Amino acid sequence: MTGYEVRLDGVDFAYGAREALRDVTLRIEAGEAVALLGPNGAGKTTLTRLVIGLARPRAGLVRVGDWEVPGKRPDEMARRVGYVFQHSDQQLFARTVAADVAFGPRQLGRAADGVRAALLELGLEGLAAAHPYDLPAPMRKVVALAGVLAMEPGVLVLDEPTTGLDRAGRDRVIRALRRRHEAGVTVLSVSHDLAFVAEAAERVVVLRDGRVVADASARALLRDEAALAALGLRLPPAAALGLALDLPGAPIRMAECAAVLRGARWTAPAVQ
Ligand SMILES: Nc1ncnc2c1ncn2[C@@H]1O[C@H](COP(=O)(O)OP(=O)(O)O)[C@@H](O)[C@H]1O
Ligand SMILES: [Mg+2]
Repeated sequence: MTGYEVRLDGVDFAYGAREALRDVTLRIEAGEAVALLGPNGAGKTTLTRLVIGLARPRAGLVRVGDWEVPGKRPDEMARRVGYVFQHSDQQLFARTVAADVAFGPRQLGRAADGVRAALLELGLEGLAAAHPYDLPAPMRKVVALAGVLAMEPGVLVLDEPTTGLDRAGRDRVIRALRRRHEAGVTVLSVSHDLAFVAEAAERVVVLRDGRVVADASARALLRDEAALAALGLRLPPAAALGLALDLPGAPIRMAECAAVLRGARWTAPAVQ
């Protein structure tokens, strides 16, 4: 699967008189995994809606690969860009989980194997016959993600994909996204969950009041206590541990902390 570059150039967007994005220029390379961070109302969801073609910029350009997004039909866009809504109830409509996940791929003429694989990958195989609305909201979001993965798009856009999920569900989502990233898919996720960001993104873009106010590597930004505090966020646990112990390698994931500590082969001080 080849990813596509996602590009915004000088983008303005407003809901009536309410400005939501101001002169946003952002280039996400094909295959990059980027997290979009920012306080409520910063314009994160709006930016994702522009990328998938659900909204048109008032000024500026939005491109996915060689496509100008405004003007593309939704069914065309679905071939390139898979999207999980912040409120994914808006995107489920079939009577069973399996039928919902199968709908998009069938529209695109994809084989049914991808549907079974996506259900398995996200731990939904036991829920295939369930009605999507009988599931708790976080799981409905996982169903929406399965439907998107089964379409095998080159770009994934996910609006707060881990909100409310338990640890197992969250780990499955993280693994699924990492696999897509390794396969070259472009991944753009909106999230306040910094432990998720540490696992699923290599770069972080921060929006505030409709503007890009920071754009840095995940490793740099997730260890910047002051920058995170300004967003009302705290260091992810692994970054906090790494900073407190002055661990080498700037760890931001627990597995990285564990590897450093294992490698150090430190001797515990004798109990007095
Ligand atoms: N449908 C809408 N109508 C009017 N204003 C909206 C609408 N959706 C969002 N806004 C406003 O646009 C701004 C950006 O919203 P949004 O993109 O949802 O931010 P975020 O996802 O970062 O919380 C906010 O000020 C919000 O109130
Ligand atoms: Mg939002």
